[in-house]
Amino acid sequence: MGSKITGFGAYLPPEALTNSQLEGLVDTNDEWIVQRTGIRERRIAQGEGTAALALRAARCALADAGREPESLDLIITATVTPDCFTPSTACMVQAGLGARRAAAFDISAACSGFVYALDLADSFIQTGKFRTILILGAETLSRIVDYTDRSTCILFGDGAGAAVVEASEEDGVLGTYLWADGAGGGVLRAQALPQDENPLGSRAAWTITDRAVSMAGGEVLRFSLSEAPRAIDAVLSRAGLTIGDIDWIVPHQANRRIISGIIRRYHLPEQKVYVNIDRFGNTSSATIPICLAEMRERGLLQTGQRVLLVGFGGGLTAAAAIIRI
Ligand code: UT7
Repeated sequence: MGSKITGFGAYLPPEALTNSQLEGLVDTNDEWIVQRTGIRERRIAQGEGTAALALRAARCALADAGREPESLDLIITATVTPDCFTPSTACMVQAGLGARRAAAFDISAACSGFVYALDLADSFIQTGKFRTILILGAETLSRIVDYTDRSTCILFGDGAGAAVVEASEEDGVLGTYLWADGAGGGVLRAQALPQDENPLGSRAAWTITDRAVSMAGGEVLRFSLSEAPRAIDAVLSRAGLTIGDIDWIVPHQANRRIISGIIRRYHLPEQKVYVNIDRFGNTSSATIPICLAEMRERGLLQTGQRVLLVGFGGGLTAAAAIIRI
């Protein structure tokens, strides 16, 4: 039994935070941000949490697939910014949709999370355990970004993307590759709970700087520039394909320079690589499904096309998949 993606959806909150607005918050400027990252603006959720964004993306993906919530067997949400430790974001989406038959859980694999979720969905379907699975990447990173830290606050944004994966006679997932380097994880961190040296003593006040994303940007950049190609090579080899067989590359939108590095490395025509980082910044697990939903909406995805997805980031993690539309 193969699996195929039958629907894509995305939701971006309407409020944009532009580079010139950031100039009012930290010592930065539009030219630096555009040159070093390719980002011009990012979206910030106002009064909506991760589950609310995810639910909106889920409804779009179900509509695109022509499926009712009751048809779902499983919901998997990839997120590093859940609203709660429990219930999971996936359970909140299940309740919001009224997907009464579905099991639901979250996974944490940061910017590789959506590709991890896709691999899980494909594996569940191959075992025959589930037939119709909703996968999501959803983040409200603005809640864990310190808007006094110019090296991180310029990068991140909020958003959600979703896809419906279904059992199919046609093979729509041609190969996957998942990898992690936990030993390197300290270069990109966000603390979930206060680090209490004395749990019986009085608890220190828990401020945004305690839980904010901290990143050694250069190290993460180097990791991404080496691991993205390694993931691409591995997934191509597993699928028995070459880069010339691929119609579209959808890379995680972390930094335009990383995407340009991939383009140069494989001598790719620019128009084969989907980029929207200029408008939405880095939404971690959500970047890849947001790209796919936009591509669907713009009529860029044609039946039979092969699309290579590649994610890399916190964990550290890297992952790639090749899907057939
Ligand atoms: O999604 C997960 C994966 N994430 C990534 O892959 C992100 C990877 N990292 C990056 O995208 C880049 O490292 C950054 C965009 C975060 C930083 O770019 P960089 O080229 O690595 O710059 P840098 O950190 O080496 O900083 C260069 C200079 C420094 O000044 P000095 O020491 O040369 O005087 C920084 O203090 O730029 C300064 N700088 C800034 N200047 C203006 C750092 N941030 C800013 C800023 N505006 N926002």
